[in-house]
Amino acid sequence: MRAMTVIPGEAGSAELTELPDPEPKEGELLVEPLYLGVCGTDREILDGLHGEPPPGHERLVLGHELLGRVRDTGRLVAGIVRRPDPVPCACCANGEWDMCRNGEYTERGIKARDGYGAELVTLEEDFAVPIPDELGTLGVLAEPASILAKAWEQIDRISTRACSAHERVLVTGAGPIGLLAALMGVQRGLETHVLDRATEGIKPEVVKALGAHYHSGDITEVSKGCSPDVVVECTGVAELVAGAMRHTAPGAVVCLTGVAASRNLSVDIGALNNELVLENDVVFGSVNANRRHFEQAVTSLREADRDWLRMLITRTVPFERWQDALEKGDDDIKVVVEFSQP
Ligand code: BGC
Repeated sequence: MRAMTVIPGEAGSAELTELPDPEPKEGELLVEPLYLGVCGTDREILDGLHGEPPPGHERLVLGHELLGRVRDTGRLVAGIVRRPDPVPCACCANGEWDMCRNGEYTERGIKARDGYGAELVTLEEDFAVPIPDELGTLGVLAEPASILAKAWEQIDRISTRACSAHERVLVTGAGPIGLLAALMGVQRGLETHVLDRATEGIKPEVVKALGAHYHSGDITEVSKGCSPDVVVECTGVAELVAGAMRHTAPGAVVCLTGVAASRNLSVDIGALNNELVLENDVVFGSVNANRRHFEQAVTSLREADRDWLRMLITRTVPFERWQDALEKGDDDIKVVVEFSQP
């Protein structure tokens, strides 16, 4: 079988590699990938900036956003990305590997475990998430949606510290993560605002179709205008991260979900501190997802408008040309690799 592989740390090493078919062990399923989403993390691995091969291997099989079909039963599954650390820490021991406390977790297609970008993969039953047939191809959004299900779960938990409910959310970035964050804001009944730099193309349309408000201006102006009490930052861009924490409503919860190249920025920490303290604001980071979040993600996708979800998948690339999927088109939202399974 063929697999999408890279040598982590070596830009330009991506290729389709011929590998022996995987043999499922006890408790593992043999899965035929149908669609595989790609994201910024894959791009970073391809550029040699991130990623770690399995112990004793030079190459890493890429891919962590799987929609596949179990060969034996024909049922659709998504694959959980992270595996608990072997110690395990208190969180991993409790199934909350997304909160791993010692950093020794592994991740399929990212950190020390082969991913799902191959013509055939094995998947531990405990890490397979059933996808209802009615979602079909759209099940490929389960992994990115799980990241937001976790983020929103955390926001909801933090929000219980005060007596009044939140009403307005500002999402920064209208990529797949931002748009799925906005979907879950709308599903919670919040007035939802999305900020992105695009002034034309599909993104404003997708936001409008969700019933949310689209902005392309400066974050300070946008925040002052809508006074959000929840912010979900989905870009990792330093200016937006700094801006996300300012001019929020009192008692705001700011969730940071993006990572980007580090960048020096001059910020008045004193003023920021005063705003956070005097308004009881919370700023926190959120990464990854556990099984509960994948299940919440599937529920959220099921309840979403299918035509709207379809708008998020802007490009489908055949497996043989998988590297094209990683080239970022201006108007791309989610790009997926399609496998030609029999
Ligand atoms: C994945 C997460 C993962 C993170 C860091 C993201 O792209 O969706 O599951 O934890 O990268 O490796």
